[in-house]
Amino acid sequence: MTEKKKIVYSGIQPSGSLTIGNYIGALSNFAELQENYDCLYCVVDQHAITVEQEPAKLRKNTLDVLALYLACGLDPDKAIIYIQSHVPQHVQLGWVLNTITSLGQLNRMTQYKDKAKKSKEIYAGLLNYPVLMAADILLYQADLVPVGEDQRQHIELTRDLAERFNHRYSPTFVLPEMLSSKVGARIMSLQDPTSKMSKSDPDENGYILVLDEPDAIRRKIKRAVTDSLGQVTYSEDQPGLKNLIDIYASFSKKSVEDIVRDYESLGYGALKEDTAQAVVEVLEPIQGRFKEFRQDKALLEKIYKEGGEKARYLANKTLRKVHKKIGFIEG
Ligand code: TYM
Repeated sequence: MTEKKKIVYSGIQPSGSLTIGNYIGALSNFAELQENYDCLYCVVDQHAITVEQEPAKLRKNTLDVLALYLACGLDPDKAIIYIQSHVPQHVQLGWVLNTITSLGQLNRMTQYKDKAKKSKEIYAGLLNYPVLMAADILLYQADLVPVGEDQRQHIELTRDLAERFNHRYSPTFVLPEMLSSKVGARIMSLQDPTSKMSKSDPDENGYILVLDEPDAIRRKIKRAVTDSLGQVTYSEDQPGLKNLIDIYASFSKKSVEDIVRDYESLGYGALKEDTAQAVVEVLEPIQGRFKEFRQDKALLEKIYKEGGEKARYLANKTLRKVHKKIGFIEG
């Protein structure tokens, strides 16, 4: 008998262009996983609206992420690729989970606290964001969730909710584990290496977009903040340099040790130049494929429709079980 493959689940918000943080921390791992696991990759449009979105932009960004998934090698014959709002069971399970989520725990989520600080008005959706994320994962009984370090707390909440439900009713949900890159699970801003690289950074020199032109990539890396020590080492005391080494290692597949050894004598300038070259070499072909996929509206539609159908089928199986255990009458 063949052993059942583990299930991998991840999602990316269509909330603007993706940065190399998104790529290194999550997206770059997706294609390889589809070879050995049953994978589901979602464009989480319902999460994106927890901050205000312009409808036309949201539509564009959703298709952009989908095309980028394909450009990065995701294959609809190997993985289920779909859009979150096409599967109503996410919100349905999300509601159930909300009824066993403590407000205290949600209030302690650092991502919520950061975003709330920046918002004039705090809406309930922002607070409940992690509950919907838990529903995404638990609906498909995912074993592994490839995400960046900033999602650790959300995965822990997901496990807590699964355990609470299993304990209150009976074993229902798999407890998922986070899968994170050894190097690059937290890529930092190029201008302020103490804060995470993010597309919401007002300083655009702080981040590199996956779709940035080669010249822009080179310019931004050249301007990246380092330090005045002038010594290539990999240490928390040199956060700018450490971040560049993480980026270089992720894009070149060289080890951190090899990079440090090679650039000890070559210095910061050479390290920056070669880092930029490695990033451009990986991103250029992705950008080319992105343009092709993005123009093929019919293909994108076919993929998200078929993906949505497969996802709904799986999601419904879990949701029906959940509703039955709670005591809802089948309609
Ligand atoms: P989002 O769209 O904000 O980020 C997508 C992925 O990119 C990772 N990431 C980073 N990794 C390393 N360094 C960075 N600077 C960096 N910035 C972002 C994020 O950790 C994430 O893996 N809540 C999720 C979306 C989501 C989801 C899910 C993920 C919704 N439901 C279910 C997994 C499973 C998020 O923040 O996406």
